[in-house]
Amino acid sequence: MSASPFIIVAIDGGAASGKSSSAKILAERFNLLHVDTGSFYRHLTAELLARMVPPGELATLQAVLPTLQLSTHVEGRSARMLVDGRPAGDEIRSGEVNAHVSHYSAVPVVRHTLLAYQRNQVDVARAHHFRGLVMEGRDIGSVIFPAADFRFFLHADPAERAKRRSAEGRQDSIAERDRLDSSRKTSPLTCPEGAIDIDSTHLTLEQVVGHMADLIAVKLPPA
Ligand code: DC
Repeated sequence: MSASPFIIVAIDGGAASGKSSSAKILAERFNLLHVDTGSFYRHLTAELLARMVPPGELATLQAVLPTLQLSTHVEGRSARMLVDGRPAGDEIRSGEVNAHVSHYSAVPVVRHTLLAYQRNQVDVARAHHFRGLVMEGRDIGSVIFPAADFRFFLHADPAERAKRRSAEGRQDSIAERDRLDSSRKTSPLTCPEGAIDIDSTHLTLEQVVGHMADLIAVKLPPA
């Protein structure tokens, strides 16, 4: 009998488009490592804000970022990034980080800092005996894993996304972050050619995940 394949699932989309909820369920269903790259950009943002390095200070960013030691702690099915051994705290979901994260993520040296680290999550997933990984973000199917087995792009009406965030009791600058994330020069948020585009505005989470899972199951039977 041949060994089961190791698969890479990329999920991209705007803020509050349903990426995290879908990725978590798929990770559970197929025994994949869940990698939320937005949390990595948030963690770096919190770190740089704490060090009072603004996104416009390129020379300081170039000096500070290479000194940060990035490692991974696997908690359940989630990959948590540690910066100099420290996990992210609740502040990465704060209004302050929401307001700044897109500005830091637009800076090429910030993106470069995370590039190899994100690709290395494949090794983390293999070392922990997962059957693959599901990585969510903005440039996963376009830049990080353009040859992923499955590349999904989720979108939904801004009003529907705002409703989802407030149902979670969270304030978020969804439209402004999307505008900045889509218009930056380096790795902008975009639906890459050949990705499976899903409009979730009028779909339930179960319907979105069901569609993705049916496609994945052709290659990898559920765990
Ligand atoms: O997924 P999220 O909303 O938590 O992501 C927070 C921010 O991080 C998002 O506004 C832009 C940035 N980001 C990015 O530029 N590239 C990624 N792959 C993931 C997130």
